[in-house]
Amino acid sequence: MARRPSVARNIAALRNSVAGYRKKGVTVALVPTMGALHDGHLSLVRAARKKAKRVVVSIFVNPAQFAPTEDFSTYPRTWSADIAALAALGVDLVWAPSAAVMYPEGFSTRLEPGGPAKVGLEDRFRPHFFGGVTTVVSKLFIQVAPDIAVFGQKDYQQLMVVTRMARDLDLPLKVVGIPTVREKDGLAMSSRNVYLSPPERATAPTLYRTLKECATNLRSGQPLERALSGARATIEQAGFAIDYVEARHAQSLAPIASLDEGPVRLLVAARLGRTRLIDNIAV
Ligand code: PAF
Repeated sequence: MARRPSVARNIAALRNSVAGYRKKGVTVALVPTMGALHDGHLSLVRAARKKAKRVVVSIFVNPAQFAPTEDFSTYPRTWSADIAALAALGVDLVWAPSAAVMYPEGFSTRLEPGGPAKVGLEDRFRPHFFGGVTTVVSKLFIQVAPDIAVFGQKDYQQLMVVTRMARDLDLPLKVVGIPTVREKDGLAMSSRNVYLSPPERATAPTLYRTLKECATNLRSGQPLERALSGARATIEQAGFAIDYVEARHAQSLAPIASLDEGPVRLLVAARLGRTRLIDNIAV
């Protein structure tokens, strides 16, 4: 049977374990998660395994990145299955602080990221989100002090924001982005896919299919606005309510007028019933 990872629930226990790794002179990778682990997360853990000798996975559903109207209380929590999956991958340590450990009484500091966090994509629809993400991720980086931290490209804007934050704060680690893992029909894996009803689940792969068609149209010379309005129409006809379908510069996430300003990333966020889905691809 696979050996279960150690679980640290307070800062002293976490630091003690990481100090043990450091004493042996080995490299440490961190995979930050909110649990409810699926194959997408597990691909991040596998990548971390290849890049460092010790792998720490944090599991913390971060209240600071949810608005009061969002799904913090119902966010899927699957602790036993998560630990079993991490054990099978040989994870060394799970960092699982409570909210009181992460944000003790009197906690009063919150990061306010700019740059890729203020470009009118996720930030337009979830204005609280990147402040909450960068606050918790900077704490995770300082707590674990890893050599590398691994994030999914599925949350592409988050990856750009966290990369910028680590650079801006001179945090001595490398942020690595890993390609999105998809279901057989192309739907990007997400902990929130469990919210989809069977008919919604059947419709959901339209997002990825449409992004791919849009990228093909752009590569074959279709003007940007025409390709994007075609994609928006297809997504709406499938029954989604669109938050955005955009082509942006792949690093700064600034708006672009043509592919010549690339590298270019297509990004989408749309709601299907009560589930909000996001996806993105390179052009
Ligand atoms: O992508 C996530 O699961 C979360 O936003 C993260 C990075 C773990 C911070 O809470």
